Amino acid sequence: MKVVDRLDLTNFSSMRIKAFCERAFFPESVDDVKEVICEARRKKKILRILGGGTNTLFGRSWIEGYVLIMVDFRDIRIDGNNIHVSSGFPLPELLRKTTSLGLSGLEPLFGIPGTVGGAVCGNAGSRRGSIGDVVERVHMVDWGGNEIVLGKEDIDFSYRNSSLKGRGVITYIDIALSKKKKEKIEEFLEKAKDLRKNQPMNLPTLGCIFKNPPEMPAGRLLDELGLKGFRIGDAFFSEKHANFIVNGGNASPVDIIQLIRIAKESASKVGIHLEEEVDIWE
Ligand code: EPU
Repeated sequence: MKVVDRLDLTNFSSMRIKAFCERAFFPESVDDVKEVICEARRKKKILRILGGGTNTLFGRSWIEGYVLIMVDFRDIRIDGNNIHVSSGFPLPELLRKTTSLGLSGLEPLFGIPGTVGGAVCGNAGSRRGSIGDVVERVHMVDWGGNEIVLGKEDIDFSYRNSSLKGRGVITYIDIALSKKKKEKIEEFLEKAKDLRKNQPMNLPTLGCIFKNPPEMPAGRLLDELGLKGFRIGDAFFSEKHANFIVNGGNASPVDIIQLIRIAKESASKVGIHLEEEVDIWE
């Protein structure tokens, strides 16, 4: 397992946010994960988990404690309609594989970057469905270093959230799909592409910053509040879709946190509570 002190996390963030962490670990197995959990406990270090870094906002430039970066933990077994996949496996690659095998169920996740573990933890999805809909079992190492297996009946999946958050480190996920004609799956994916046409797909962002409040979509709200293009330092609300904050080059964690604060204040002035969709490392 690779271990790096004072790692620059820029390349592990889809928004390319510059922040350093005290020590980073790149586990490749369940035993590696257990070892890091035990060492963190022994040394009384905070332990954070990073998947693809596509939904995590580094809220400061120096991250105290240990970070488990899951991207080297890549393993997959496909048996008929059932997938056993490690948490560090890239979600887009999983979708490509299942599509080529004529396995259906993950189509609503088209276009979502990151790892399978991160997606399951935050119940990633689109208006067409979420990953929680196809999860059968989740394997974890809890904070005591014990391996646990949770069946879908033990997990509460809700809008961009799950009861897995904070319980430990996800190691493997069992997913159940169904057979479908490859052409039918590809047809559905083509339509899913349309849903993303109004999103700044090729710029450094963390996807949607806020959850959609009950009153109206966060993007429309921020747009109506006049925040499109509003900038602090090198961070700004996308001109294309106001619920995306773009890193224009050297955006700092402070710039982004400020934008979030201003958006929440503006929303509360019209009586709407905005809640972050991204995880913020304070
Ligand atoms: N809108 C505006 N101005 C904007 C942006 C949006 O008026 O700047 C309007 C749109 O015209 C539309 C409405 O707001 O009438 C909703 O916007 P959109 O169709 O883009 O969908 P969304 O609710 O903003 C959600 C998910 C996305 C997902 C898309 C497509 C949330 C917070 N967002 O976006 O997920 O990709 O639907 O399924 O649930 C993410 O999770 O990171 C994410 C981007």
